[in-house]
Amino acid sequence: MIRRVVVTGAGGGIGAAMARRFAADGARVVVNDLDEAAAAVVAAEIGGIAVPGDAGDEADVRRLVDTAWEELGGCDLFCANAGILTGGSADAPDAEWAKAWQINVMSHVYVARALLPRWLDSDGGRLLFTVSAAGLLTLLGSAPYSVTKHAALGFAEWLRATYAHRGITVQALCPQGVNTAMMTDGGESASRAILAASALEPEQVAAVVAEAVRGDSFLILPHAEVADFYRVRATDTDRWLGGMNKVQRGFDAAVHP
Ligand SMILES: NC(=O)c1ccc[n+]([C@@H]2O[C@H](COP(=O)([O-])OP(=O)(O)OC[C@H]3O[C@@H](n4cnc5c(N)ncnc54)[C@H](O)[C@@H]3O)[C@@H](O)[C@H]2O)c1
Repeated sequence: MIRRVVVTGAGGGIGAAMARRFAADGARVVVNDLDEAAAAVVAAEIGGIAVPGDAGDEADVRRLVDTAWEELGGCDLFCANAGILTGGSADAPDAEWAKAWQINVMSHVYVARALLPRWLDSDGGRLLFTVSAAGLLTLLGSAPYSVTKHAALGFAEWLRATYAHRGITVQALCPQGVNTAMMTDGGESASRAILAASALEPEQVAAVVAEAVRGDSFLILPHAEVADFYRVRATDTDRWLGGMNKVQRGFDAAVHP
């Protein structure tokens, strides 16, 4: 039974939808966001507890976990959801690469450091990382995002393989496009235009998650086609890469006809 939940990046988008859904299903929710006002609004709406802070800062993550124990008596499910989309290629500035690494990867390391000792000493718990289909596949036009989401998935796999027999359930949520600020802010891009065609609403993703956390499948794939792409990537890597490059050539031709 999931009664005590923490969600990072829950002031908007997928995180807010998950917080609302878990609250509607009867859980008490700690609502974290970098945006203090956004966290307060969602927490007030669902009778949750707002804990503003940076998911990429270890002290803030510890505070979040401490609050769950102090206010809720523990944590059944921690959704490490906050993430940032950084565009660009190898030429993206080092600072952008470092920021993507900090928020998309180290935030998950900090969560594991803070939670695992508590969970391993008690009844265990459930850790959900919001990764992305970009962590299983790739996102053209966004090298730092693709690379750091692959790393986040790698860490989730490592945790699952290491702790599955000790009461820790790790799951990775890997959607394609979802209609949130991340999809719409920052203007049009070729990848966004493609993803928009099959984009889901955050509430649809939250409904898939609510069902998935009743089971223990590692991958949570709100877009079923991602499993097919992932299979082709593994079994016919050259064909998959050739297909992705064909999409990129289409983007290039649109820019320089
Ligand atoms: N929208 C998509 O198409 C999509 C697809 C796949 C995966 N994702 C992933 O889903 C997660 C949520 O994305 P979203 O689409 O809801 O984005 P969003 O930008 O709509 O919302 C993200 C929320 O996280 C908060 N946030 C950002 N940095 C933070 C930090 N360091 N600490 C705490 N909060 C922070 C923001 O203030 C915002 O409220 C991300 O990890 C993202 O990579 C999104």
